[in-house]
Amino acid sequence: MTEGAPVSVMMAAPRLDTILQGMYPALAGDTGRFQVVGLATEWGDLKSKIQALKPEALLIQAEIAPGPDEFIAGLKGFPGVAVVVMTPSSAAAEGVVRSIPCVRDVFVTQAPNWVEVAQLLYQAAVSERAIKLQAAPLPAFVQVGGPIGPSVPVGLRIFAFVSRKGGVGKSTLAANFAYALARRGISTLLIGFDRPDDLGVQFHLPPYPNQGLFFENPTLEALRGGIQKKDALDILLCVPDDLAADAIARRDPADRGSIRSLVMTAAMGGWAALVLDLPPDLTSEWALQPLLVANTVVLVARPTLADANKVMQTYQLLTRRLAVEHAIPRENIFLVLNMTTKEDNISPAAFTRMIAETSGDSAPPVIGVVPFEPGLSAIQNQGELPLLRLDGFRKAVEGMVEIFYRGVTPTTAQEKSKIPWRRR
Ligand SMILES: Nc1ncnc2c1ncn2[C@@H]1O[C@H](COP(=O)(O)OP(=O)(O)OP(=O)(O)O)[C@@H](O)[C@H]1O
Ligand SMILES: [Mg+2]
Repeated sequence: MTEGAPVSVMMAAPRLDTILQGMYPALAGDTGRFQVVGLATEWGDLKSKIQALKPEALLIQAEIAPGPDEFIAGLKGFPGVAVVVMTPSSAAAEGVVRSIPCVRDVFVTQAPNWVEVAQLLYQAAVSERAIKLQAAPLPAFVQVGGPIGPSVPVGLRIFAFVSRKGGVGKSTLAANFAYALARRGISTLLIGFDRPDDLGVQFHLPPYPNQGLFFENPTLEALRGGIQKKDALDILLCVPDDLAADAIARRDPADRGSIRSLVMTAAMGGWAALVLDLPPDLTSEWALQPLLVANTVVLVARPTLADANKVMQTYQLLTRRLAVEHAIPRENIFLVLNMTTKEDNISPAAFTRMIAETSGDSAPPVIGVVPFEPGLSAIQNQGELPLLRLDGFRKAVEGMVEIFYRGVTPTTAQEKSKIPWRRR
C-alpha cells in the first residue's frame, strides 16, 4: 500500500449491533480514508479472516476473544495496527492488552466515540506505513491508480445505482455491471430493491427464492438461501409481494430484519462487491435504506435537460440534505449517461457543466457513456445479457468496471487469493 491509498481495515466485535451501528458508520463509507475488507463477530472466524484478508488495521472490541490470554496470543503476530475498545468490566486486562505489539491504543468505555476511535486508527495506520516505507524504500509492488476511483481493487464496495427517474437504465446497467465484475472473478452479489424485480426478468430467473427468506429469518444463512445464480454472479431478488414489502419497509432500520440490515448482512457475507439496483422513488424506504449504507453511488441519466435537472437535485440531496445520514464521500458519487446517440445535442461535458453552473457546486464525474442500442430490449427479452452481445454496450460497461477495478482480469483476480474475491 502506498501512502494516500485508503487504509484496509477489519471490524470485530462480539455483537453485530456494535459493528453495524458504531464501527461501520464511522469507517465504511469513508472510502477516501478506509476500505473495510472484513467483519467478524466470532473469535475463530476473526482469526481466519485476518489470515485471509491481511488487513492493515483492526478495529476490535476485546470481548470478542474468550479471554485476555487468547486475545494476546491471537493478536501477537498481527503485522498491522490495532485499536482496541473494551467495556469497563474488562478494565483489569487493559495493561496486558496495551502490551500487545500491534495495539496502538485502548479505549475502556461502554459508549465509544467511534469517529474519534476511527481517527486514531487512521493515524496509527498511516504512521505505520511511513515507518515501513522508511525501512523498505523500494516497495515490493507498484500500485496502479488514477485520478478517480481507488488505487487497488481491495475492500468491499457497495454500489448503488440511482436515479429519480424511471426507465433510464438503472436495472440494465446494474445487472450488466455486476455480471462484468463477476466475470472478472470479483465475487459480486447483485441485489434488487424494486418491485416487480426487473432483474429477475432480465436474467430469466423465477421469482423464488428471494429476499423473503432473509426478512422471515434475518441471518446470513437465510440470505444465502435466497440467492440465485447467473454464471459467476450471485443475485438476490426483491420480495415480490407489495403488502409484505410495505410491512418490511415499516420496520425500524436498526431492526435486524430491516432493509438496511439486509444490506449490512450481505456486507458480512464475504463478497468483494455488492451492486444495489434501487427503485426511482428515493423517498421510499426501499431506496433510502440501501442508499444510506452504500459507499459508492452511480447516478444514471439520459443526456437530456430534464435528466440533468434531476441529477442535480439528487446530487444535492446526497451531498447536502442526506449528507449527515450516510457516509458516501462526494468523490464516490459518479454519473453514467445512458442511451446516448449521435443526434444528442448535450455532450457529457455540457451535461456536467450545466449541473455545475446551475447549482454553483461541483458535478459528479462521468464514468460511462453508454450508447443507445436499438436491439437491447430484444436481447433482454430473451433472458440474455446485452454485455455479451453488443460491442458498444460492453465497451462502455467494461470502462465503468475499469474505473473501480483497473487491470483486474479473471486470472489476476484469482491469483490474488488474499483479496476476498471468492466467497466462503
Ligand atoms: N443503452 C440502452 N439502449 C437501449 N435500450 C436501453 C438501454 N438501456 C436500457 N434500455 C432499455 O430501457 C428500458 C428501461 O431500462 P431499465 O429497466 O434498465 O431502466 P430502470 O431505470 O431500471 O427503470 P425503472 O426505473 O423502471 O426501474 C428497458 O426496456 C431497457 O431494455
Ligand atoms: Mg429498474
